[in-house]
Amino acid sequence: MTARPDLSQANRTLPAGVATLADHEQHALGQLDEATRAYLSGAAADELTYARNLDAWRRIELLPRVLRPLAGGHTQIELLGRTLAHPILVAPMAYQRLAHPDGEHATALAAAALGAGLVFSTQASAPLDDIAKVFLPEPGRGPLWFQLYLQPDRGFTQELVQRAESAGFEALVLTVDAPVQGTRDRERRTQFRLPADISAVNLTGMRTPPARSLAAGQSALFDDLLTHAPTWDDVTWLRSVTRLPVMLKGILHPDDARQAIDVGVAGVIVSNHGGRTLDTAVSTAAALPRIAQAVQGQIPVLVDGGIRRGTDVLKAIGLGASAVLVGRPVLHGLTNAGATGVAHVLRLLRDELEIAMALTGCRTLTDASSALALQEPQRSG
Ligand code: FNR
Ligand code: LAC
Repeated sequence: MTARPDLSQANRTLPAGVATLADHEQHALGQLDEATRAYLSGAAADELTYARNLDAWRRIELLPRVLRPLAGGHTQIELLGRTLAHPILVAPMAYQRLAHPDGEHATALAAAALGAGLVFSTQASAPLDDIAKVFLPEPGRGPLWFQLYLQPDRGFTQELVQRAESAGFEALVLTVDAPVQGTRDRERRTQFRLPADISAVNLTGMRTPPARSLAAGQSALFDDLLTHAPTWDDVTWLRSVTRLPVMLKGILHPDDARQAIDVGVAGVIVSNHGGRTLDTAVSTAAALPRIAQAVQGQIPVLVDGGIRRGTDVLKAIGLGASAVLVGRPVLHGLTNAGATGVAHVLRLLRDELEIAMALTGCRTLTDASSALALQEPQRSG
């Protein structure tokens, strides 16, 4: 079991010269073998959406206001009926023991200590109860959510949801943008395989349906795999079998966001899976404003993909997000220094957010939209 991360010791544990999330990435990539790097850091096909996610946040310009009173400011937000210290959550990511032997435990300890919400993956390499036990007792913790992939075995899926409920998870995040895995060319090139001692332990005992025998001309995708893929009816079903709020992760189209409201979901996460599913899909920074407009504040809108700086967080909130999720940078911190590395990544992002707020004249995040230089210049009267 890993110890609670102690950032006062961070200088001794962290690799020298790591001052940003990009530094964490560069150092982590040097620690991993090529195939593991392909899985943890890679994206689909030509990795264009991955690159666009990063680029889209960078391109948005800030228009700072000066001389505003800033004393007493804070990064707090309201989310699903709770006040959170800041708007940064850890995105669900599978098999974190690939990055570090302490895997999901280390991530949970660090997130809890830093007041960051944690979204735990269905395909995690640690038992869900253990993670809840690590995360929930921490005072000042953020929310604990369970990311769900609907399994072909719906009975097993329902039991999994009940296990998450009993363990104390506070919401379900149904991922809807990956009915099939994206074209992971880098993983295939490097022949990535999970090591024998790392697996999706929370799915043990699940029945996998036998492959169908296909008639000539039938597709293994459309006529077999996708016959088990979730649809809107399954969202309604899921809501009927749980008392937890259900969010959808992987929404990019405003009409899907409206439909999500119609079926009663509690929130949507604007996401393209970090560019790991459909390559050339729209960047999340570009998709977010249209979804925020469609949703009209009826449910919270969260966003992930390419968030690497405090300024990115401020821009996301300014464009209508309630909170952001951070993916790969957490795995980079984990690779570099276990729980301390994850804590350092989360701390950097929050510190940078505070600085970005101060330098744009935002005392609280409700002011964030005023920091964006998107509007046509207004002529004063
Ligand atoms: C993911 N992501 C993901 N999403 C999900 O819903 N369930 C999962 O199990 C996983 N697994 C996963 C593994 C790895 C190695 C990565 C990098 C990503 C996607 C993740 O939740 C998130 O949407 C993106 O990672 C966000 O983009 P950035 O921050 O990595 O650019
Ligand atoms: C991934 C799956 C697990 O992105 O969501 O690797």
